[in-house]
This record gives sequence, structure tokens and C-alpha cells, in this order.
Amino acid sequence: MYEIYCKSFCDSNGDGIGDLQGVISKLPMLQELGINCIWFTPIFTSPQVDNGYDVADYQNIDPAYGTLDDFKELLLKAHALGIRILLDMVLNHSSDEHRWFLESRKSKDNPYRNYYIWQPPKTDGSEPNNWGNYFLEGNGSAWTFDKATGEYYLHQYSAKMPDLNWEYVPLREEVYRMMRWWLDMGVDGFRFDIFTRFKKPAGFPDTPKSPNALLDRNGFIVDRDMCTCVDGIHEIWQNIHKNVMEGRDIFTIGEGSGINIQNVADYTAQSRKELDTVYHFNLVSRKRPPFTLQQFRTEQTQWAEVMKKDVWTTQYLSNHDQPRMVSRYGSDGQFRVESAKLLAVLVHTMPGTPFLYQGEEIGMTNVAYSCIENYNDRYTVGEYYSMLENGMEAEQALAILQPKSRDNTRTPYQWNASRHAGFTTGTPWLKVNENYPSVNYEADQKSSDSIFAFYQQLIRMRKDHPAIIGGNLEFVLPDHENVLMYLRRYEQETLLIIANKSDCEVPVQVPPELIGKVFRRLLSNRPETVPSLGGRSAWLPWEAEIYCVENP
Ligand code: NOJ
Repeated sequence: MYEIYCKSFCDSNGDGIGDLQGVISKLPMLQELGINCIWFTPIFTSPQVDNGYDVADYQNIDPAYGTLDDFKELLLKAHALGIRILLDMVLNHSSDEHRWFLESRKSKDNPYRNYYIWQPPKTDGSEPNNWGNYFLEGNGSAWTFDKATGEYYLHQYSAKMPDLNWEYVPLREEVYRMMRWWLDMGVDGFRFDIFTRFKKPAGFPDTPKSPNALLDRNGFIVDRDMCTCVDGIHEIWQNIHKNVMEGRDIFTIGEGSGINIQNVADYTAQSRKELDTVYHFNLVSRKRPPFTLQQFRTEQTQWAEVMKKDVWTTQYLSNHDQPRMVSRYGSDGQFRVESAKLLAVLVHTMPGTPFLYQGEEIGMTNVAYSCIENYNDRYTVGEYYSMLENGMEAEQALAILQPKSRDNTRTPYQWNASRHAGFTTGTPWLKVNENYPSVNYEADQKSSDSIFAFYQQLIRMRKDHPAIIGGNLEFVLPDHENVLMYLRRYEQETLLIIANKSDCEVPVQVPPELIGKVFRRLLSNRPETVPSLGGRSAWLPWEAEIYCVENP
């Protein structure tokens, strides 16, 4: 699965914004890479308050990206190359510029009133409860007062992104129709934005200040548990499945806020008829420190276990909401190439479908803008001003936010060493990372040793080795501080993966259960001249290797 952030992928008309014709021009490159499905972040008509996660028309393409005809052309051309297309359905909220909301706010008896969540003020005129909005905008509340009708509407994110009311059957039916329309056109499935937050707790009670509360602004609490996995959420998903997905050969994936080992089967077990799979945040979160090897082993072992319950999982280390994986979990200086390849090995050899985010295949890194005006991410901007309000110096706030900003992954794709990295002939909507003269697609094409070439080999390898897809997962050297070592076994095949996730050389240690085995090296991120396992005494920094065990 390859995630495309269209705005930053390839600009075909020089307006500084990536577009569908740009993507069409790069389909051959994606086919070369070997991917077989694209997830597009939202490309629908939108005021772009949250870069498309604020949809103003679910049945049209944003003019900055092109037209419906461009999309149909893309669909045809992608299908002809064996590449499927998933659209990002943002159905917890819409834009406040959506026709439904414009109607809804007109009067209490408007036919669209109940498409959104309206509540009267408390007797003192204040907000219906203490819920905060995730972007920390306005006074921090998740409610905005609308003078026209004297009520507040709910928005878990920006005031320009009002929450839809999934209790209201006509809204549901309209959304089902809209999704069927895309599927009838040939779309191959959907990624569902924050799909666990559609159901709100009855009566809209205040949220306690739980350990999951992220921030508190003016007494409004941003709590991840506020509207997540509320009782009744499964009824919503079973109905979506029945009315939209049933009987179709499509793929669905949910963005799993609040998804854990205990509840994942409830959403994704095939027999439940809700979603095909989800991605979770247990290892990847810009809000927590990077994972340790111990956490990695524990999480991956638990998720591999869950897969026995009729569940299919996913693997990723970055996406449009996270920093660049090579900067966060790798080493983006001296060992950029090696560490990008090592992380790719982890993503491609752990159980589940690997998700690549655009630019990972050439090892794109985080960006460091020198002032807040260069940032676009609403989280970064919201948190910055809240930090300043609390007395922090601008420089310090920027230094804290830089490594975790979502803009790190949203910088334009680096195609070549020409101006603006060949992304656009105009002025890019977000500044290009300054390292583009050396980190770019064209440079990778010149070397058979490039990160891109390595991804190609990994992707091919998944297709050739059933143990990578269906094999069980068994960690060896379970306490090693720097080295991950694991076996994937399936029927006659056993693979051994070794990854030295550190900047240091580490003495080779062969665990007792592997002594006497014969190993054939399938892939390495170090030159072939480096002897294989058994023939040397140390693993090199960020070395990653895949072996086939000949006599398991
Ligand atoms: C999750 C999306 O991935 C993120 O980019 C967006 O800001 C929020 N949902 C709100 O839609």
C-alpha cells in the first residue's frame, strides 16, 4: 500500500500544488516500485483548512487537484497497471462550507439541522460541556456558538470541521449513497478517518481529566477517550458494511484511534462484517518517545497473536500525520541510507500489510523550518501559540515542535536536483526540504544500491516468500539492546531477519537455537562483499539482513 499526499506529490500545472495529472505522470514509477494499491489522502473539494480532511463536497475533486474526469482517467490508468485505488473517507466531520452545514445552521427546523450535532448553551450561556478541540483553536472548546439559532455545534477538530450526526438516519443514507457512487465508478475501497469517533457519549457528559487527556486549554480538556469507541460504534460500522461494502471486492482500512489488542477483533474479524483492517498507534506516535526494541518486540508479538483471531493487521512507521521514519526511528545523517533500508526491512517483514508513505522509498527526512510562518500543520501552529501563551520562548517552542510536526512528511516530493526538487515549476505550497540536491528520486535511479532499489527488492521478496506473508513470528535474542532478530516460519520455509538498530558495531551473537543451521543470505543493506552470518564477528551499524534457513 502506497500513501499519496496529493498536494505534495507532483505538480503538473505549475500552481505549486500537487495534482492528479501529476500522479498520473508518475504511475509508471509506482509500478516500477512494485506497489499494488494507492491510498489517497482526501482529494475531494475542500477549503483545505486541514488539507482536505475538511470536505465541502464528497462527490467532486478539489479544483486544485483536477477534475472528476482526471480522476476517472487515473483510475483507468492505474487499473491497467494493476494498481488499485483507495479513497480517504472523512466521515466524522465535514467542512463548515459543505452544503449540508450551510443549510443546517440556517434554522432549527431546516431539513439538514440534524446532520450535525447541535446543543443549547448551559443556563449561563456557556458551552454544553468541557470537551476541547484537538487543534487547540479558539478558546479551546470543541463547541462553537452560532448566533443565527442560538445553539452550539460540536467539532472535535477545527470550528471549520463540524462533526456529523451519525444518529440521524437520513445522514447515514446519504453517506451510503455517496460511497456506493464511488465504488460503482470503480474505486477499490476506502481508508476511514478516525472511524472510532463517530459515536458520541449519550447526554454529552463532561470528560474527566483522565491520563489520556492531552492538553487542557481554558478548562477545556482534549481527551482521546472523549468520543472514542463509545458503546454503539459497532452498530454504525455494521450498517455501513451492510449498506456499502457487502458483496463487493473492495478493501477497507480504519484509522484506529483507540484501537488495541482487546478491541481490534471487534472491528476487523471477518465474521463481524465491519472493516478489513486498521492501523494502530502503539508503536508510532509523534507524541511519545520513539519505541524501544523491547516495546517493538512486545507489540509485534501481541499483534501477531491477534492475527490468529481472524484479524489482519498493517505495518507502517510513518504517514502524513507523523514525522519522517528515517529521522524519528533511524539515523538521518551518516547512516541515512542504511537506516532507511533497515526500517523498510522491519515494515516489510513483520506480519501484516506494509504501508509506505510517499518519499520513504528515497529516504526523505524531516525538515527544520526557521519560523512558525513556514509551518502549515494545524497541530503545530495551535500548539505553538498555546506554548507562547504559557510563557515559552518562540525559539524553544519551535525546537520542541520541529521534530514532531506533521509538516515533516508533507514537504514536496523530491524528484530531482532542479529548483524546488522538480516538484513544481511554480512556488510550492510548502517549502521544499533543503536537502533535495542530494536526496531525490533521480539520484536514487543512478545507483543499483539505492534505497529505491532496495524497496523494489523487498516488495518482490514479499511476493516470492510465503513466510513473509503467512509465517508466524518468533523473536530470538529477546533481550538484546541493539539488535532485533526474528524468525518467520511458514510450512517448509523459515526466514531469519537480523537488524542492528544502532549507530554502533555490535558483536555477532548467534542464539543457541540457531547454532549449526545453514543460512543463505537473501538480502542485505550492506555490500555483498561483507561476509554473511557465520563468517564474521560484528554486525555493522544499521545493518539489516534477511536469510533463508536451509535446514530449519
Ligand atoms: C486524521 C487524519 O489523518 C488527520 O490528518 C486529520 O487532521 C484528522 N484525522 C482530522 O480529520
